[in-house]
Amino acid sequence: MGKIILTGDRPTGKLHVGHYVGSLRRRVELQNSGEYDKIYIMIADAQALTDNADNPEKVRQNIIEVALDYLACGLDPKKSTILIQSQIPELCELSFYYMNLVTVSRLQRNPTVKSEIQMRNFEASIPVGFFTYPISQAADITAFKATTVPAGEDQMPMVEQTQEIVHKFNSVYGEALVEPKILLPDNQACMRLPGIDGKAKMSKSLGNCIYLSEEPEDIKKKVMSMFTDPDHIRVQDPGKIEGNCVFTYLDAFCKPEHFERYLPDYANLDELKSHYRRGGLGDVKVKKFLNNVLQETLEPIRTRRKELEKDIPAIYEILKKGSEEAEKVAAKTLADVKNAMKINYFDDMALIHEQTEKYRKE
Ligand code: TRP
Repeated sequence: MGKIILTGDRPTGKLHVGHYVGSLRRRVELQNSGEYDKIYIMIADAQALTDNADNPEKVRQNIIEVALDYLACGLDPKKSTILIQSQIPELCELSFYYMNLVTVSRLQRNPTVKSEIQMRNFEASIPVGFFTYPISQAADITAFKATTVPAGEDQMPMVEQTQEIVHKFNSVYGEALVEPKILLPDNQACMRLPGIDGKAKMSKSLGNCIYLSEEPEDIKKKVMSMFTDPDHIRVQDPGKIEGNCVFTYLDAFCKPEHFERYLPDYANLDELKSHYRRGGLGDVKVKKFLNNVLQETLEPIRTRRKELEKDIPAIYEILKKGSEEAEKVAAKTLADVKNAMKINYFDDMALIHEQTEKYRKE
């Protein structure tokens, strides 16, 4: 059995730097490591519709945005299969059978679903499709026999739910499915990058994101307005690193060579942090450094995206090819699942024979 990656994103907006450090950067590294036999990247439009049922146009418009961001970051359709979830009908069929293996109370305990219900004020009117999306996500993952799901911490409950479904399926019907593992970011800052206002989550509605396609002046404006330590008033005051966005972003983005290039007075981030803690280091200096780091990181992504934007039909063609290829794989898994469940009646010669014998005796 090979090493197979599946991961994806809901197309509800352009991707931002939180997506980048949380998962995108890692995907590109994994893709280029050559260690994986197959890589599937899913634009989860059907999942996006589970909480945007009345706004399908938003989902429709954002598929291309996500695809452009993927390719701009270095996902390469020759090495990774990029697909659109809704184009793989086999996923619905798998979900339908998996639904019998999960209880309502188990879904109610899913912490990510719980917090999403709160965030969306769904309490009294949760759409059934939304409530059951962890099951559909298990179909996404298992359809491709994925061994590895590179994703953020918020996806942990979905992967756990998938593991339970796989376990239950395999023990009831026989080994047909592969149990996946999540691959989390290796650094705490990348796990959940805060918004520029210091709020726990970057979100379009809070207006606290830096997008991957952001223009240089806007990146700079956003960095200069970032939340730091509210008690660090004068340069000489000691400052706090914890909860200080600028340092969280540096934890996520900066590499040793950035110091050589933009801040040679310090050898590394630890030195910069201890100076800030002691006092005598102003926010503006640290923000300017972060701005340089972000500009250097985002410039090639933005440039590549602008190039890709010149041929939009080619992007849809990539998505079409990827979806077609993915559907073949999902169809094979669905056949395995139906065989295991013995609901493949017309291919089941033993069943036909058995029934024939039964009626011959009578
Ligand atoms: N739930 C993911 C998100 O909120 C999107 C997603 C759908 C996904 N199917 C997946 C992620 C399968 C990893 C694996 O962005």
